[in-house]
Amino acid sequence: MHDKLGEIVQIAASAYGSDISKYDDMFLKQVAEKRFACANVTNISEYVQYLSNNPDEVGALLRSLHITHTDFFRNPLTFAHLEQWILPSLLEGKPEASELRIWSAGCSSGQEPYSIAMLVENIHTRKSRPLRYRIIATDISGSALLQATKGEYREDEIQRIRVKDLKDFFIKTGDTYTVSDRLKQHVGFSTYDLLDNRYSCPQESIFGNFDLVVCSNMLFYYKPNHQQYIVRKLIDSMDKFGYLITGEAERQVVENFTELYQVAPPSPIYKQRRGVR
Ligand SMILES: C[S@@+](CC[C@H](N)C(=O)[O-])C[C@H]1O[C@@H](n2cnc3c(N)ncnc32)[C@H](O)[C@@H]1O
Repeated sequence: MHDKLGEIVQIAASAYGSDISKYDDMFLKQVAEKRFACANVTNISEYVQYLSNNPDEVGALLRSLHITHTDFFRNPLTFAHLEQWILPSLLEGKPEASELRIWSAGCSSGQEPYSIAMLVENIHTRKSRPLRYRIIATDISGSALLQATKGEYREDEIQRIRVKDLKDFFIKTGDTYTVSDRLKQHVGFSTYDLLDNRYSCPQESIFGNFDLVVCSNMLFYYKPNHQQYIVRKLIDSMDKFGYLITGEAERQVVENFTELYQVAPPSPIYKQRRGVR
């Protein structure tokens, strides 16, 4: 690790007890550099100096490390696969009394799990069987989860949602679009740190066994050993026949796990080899 980054890690540990050594060095450096203007410094040495004299800046840096950017139907190709064959086949394969179990890990402010819920609802209206599904949506960020639970989005945040879906699943009040109870009743939000080694999966899920696990656009913030730790945890939480979906830029992490194979290249959608029928 770059000496100066090491010093930043030390400062964060002593000021807030936070271990930021888990973050990828390049990411940490970029986030620190984005803080230069606010700290009125021009290089990393000056920034380290500034940090050691300004505890508030340490807090600001820690907050900047939590990137919660997201969108509805963020990766269109992956969502097309979900809509066209993954969710239909999962729903079709479920015995009538059992429920479809989905985990959105690192769900940010809810756009990802609500997008999946819209797809499930739409697929179901084309079938005659009763619909039973549960989406466990977790994140480490309390503020993101608060917005997710409220399910309120601005006009600029709902641009990727089809007009029909907006009409069917949202209530418009002024400029705010609120997710309807029809979707909310199937999505449960809770705090869960994927690096927490006390729990192998969210407590709400009781035993994991998910048919679909989505963990996208968060692995690349971490160092390789932490990325591997998270992916191992995700695999262990999957049903034998289940699917794992990551972000586009995270394929390389998953490719280290030989028990997985990519089902629809180039999309980052995986299954376990032991579940090949
Ligand atoms: C960039 S957002 C991606 C959101 C969504 N998955 C998507 O693809 O649009 C990354 C999310 O991962 C969450 N996150 C980062 N580290 C985490 C961890 N260790 N455990 C759980 N969530 C984490 C962040 O709080 C953030 O909300």
